[in-house]
Amino acid sequence: MNKGRVILEHFIINGNKPLKGKVQISGAKNAAVAVIPAALLVDGVCILENLPCIEDVQSYVSVLRSMGVVCEFLDESTLQIDASKVCTTNISPEQLKDMRASYYLIGALLGRYKKANVPMPGGCNFGVRPIDQHIKGFESLGAKVVIEHGAVTAHADKLLGTQIFLDMASVGATINIMMAAVFAEGITTIENAAKEPHIVDCANFLNMCGAKIKGAGTDVIRITGVEKLEGKRYSIIPDQIETGTYMIAAAITGGDVKVCNVIPKHMESLTAKLQEMGCTVIAQEDWIKVKAANPLTAANIKTLYYPGFPTDLQPQITTLLTQAEGVSYVNETVFDTRFQYVDQLTRLGAKITLEGRMAVVEGTSRLTGADVVATDLRAGAALMLAALAAEGTTKISNLYYIDRGYEKIVEKLTALGADVRRSNGEDESQIPMLYEA
Ligand code: EPU
Repeated sequence: MNKGRVILEHFIINGNKPLKGKVQISGAKNAAVAVIPAALLVDGVCILENLPCIEDVQSYVSVLRSMGVVCEFLDESTLQIDASKVCTTNISPEQLKDMRASYYLIGALLGRYKKANVPMPGGCNFGVRPIDQHIKGFESLGAKVVIEHGAVTAHADKLLGTQIFLDMASVGATINIMMAAVFAEGITTIENAAKEPHIVDCANFLNMCGAKIKGAGTDVIRITGVEKLEGKRYSIIPDQIETGTYMIAAAITGGDVKVCNVIPKHMESLTAKLQEMGCTVIAQEDWIKVKAANPLTAANIKTLYYPGFPTDLQPQITTLLTQAEGVSYVNETVFDTRFQYVDQLTRLGAKITLEGRMAVVEGTSRLTGADVVATDLRAGAALMLAALAAEGTTKISNLYYIDRGYEKIVEKLTALGADVRRSNGEDESQIPMLYEA
């Protein structure tokens, strides 16, 4: 990864063009960043297929390599991992890139080696993101956990199965405890577990390798400790949030897009909302077709844990609601401050007021191109959607965030008829710089 390069680069989007055609969805980022560290638990060679070609995957691979794990890309989306010769369980901040999912190293290393020293996680910044539930789980299994000098240190003589009740259905805590418990003696039960598709994917991978995890995808997960995991070939599920972003792209541009290689079941909360707004949504076995409505009607959103409306699609749907007739209310219940992008969206003409965790969206606002800055991954996606619908030219800076989670976004949008390109800044003089990040 070259973060400096990506920070200098920006997207230039000439909007107001309906998107039409087909788009292929990549493997799920949040499944990939769980399954890759889960391979640390395996004594043997794993082959992971359908990995998205994104910065977060590259970052994880470079951390694993720095730990002595042999990682080889067999092609762009297939990674062979051999974790039989891990040389350290101490991870330095220099080894870690700025990613939230680095917390899975704690569960995986603790599970396999009974010790881990991992810097506190980074990732998208939308409010305080504690990991107390992860730590509660590790401690319940018998580990001693200390946070000092910006790192989490965990160690145990042995891990013993137990019952863990999560205070909230945390995705990260559920997966992390699952990893730590794979070899724990006896039975571990996670109550009030999160149910997101990537939790099921990670459990399926571990089970294929020999783990005994039951109930993933429900709110009670039971893990019976085993002695050893064997290397296997596993294919990652399609990305729920990338799918949703392209579905909304069709709706916001007055387009008609077939989104392929998806699991329609994962998209039900969004499908229902788009239909409520007037769009035509047809789902078959592994594709979803979205035809925009004209006009779109207002709708209310409340983000919830799966199968509720995902917080990771909240910035994108809020952007769509700026183009709907009437007033919409968006209630963000998962994260404290996930409306930072609203300030940037209003530069493009969106009419949104914030009342704590509620956004009041007034439609229909005329969007026009402007210079904006991505403040996090999904905020960046929301700005891209607004730019695709806006009249004139939009420049989006801070691409690093968008590249963390969206594979080949320029190529995919271009194939759908969008006028979008990545610029290295050489054509800066053609566009007035209105805002510095
Ligand atoms: N929470 C705690 N204590 C904990 C854990 C979580 O208070 O120990 C709180 C969080 O502060 C938050 C809520 O519980 O308010 C939910 O957090 P969760 O642990 O579920 O989120 P996460 O594991 O940090 C993952 C995804 C996020 C996604 C959330 C919610 C990964 C790597 N990240 O984060 O994805 O928003 O679940 O679905 O899986 C993204 O892809 O853009 C992204 C941010």
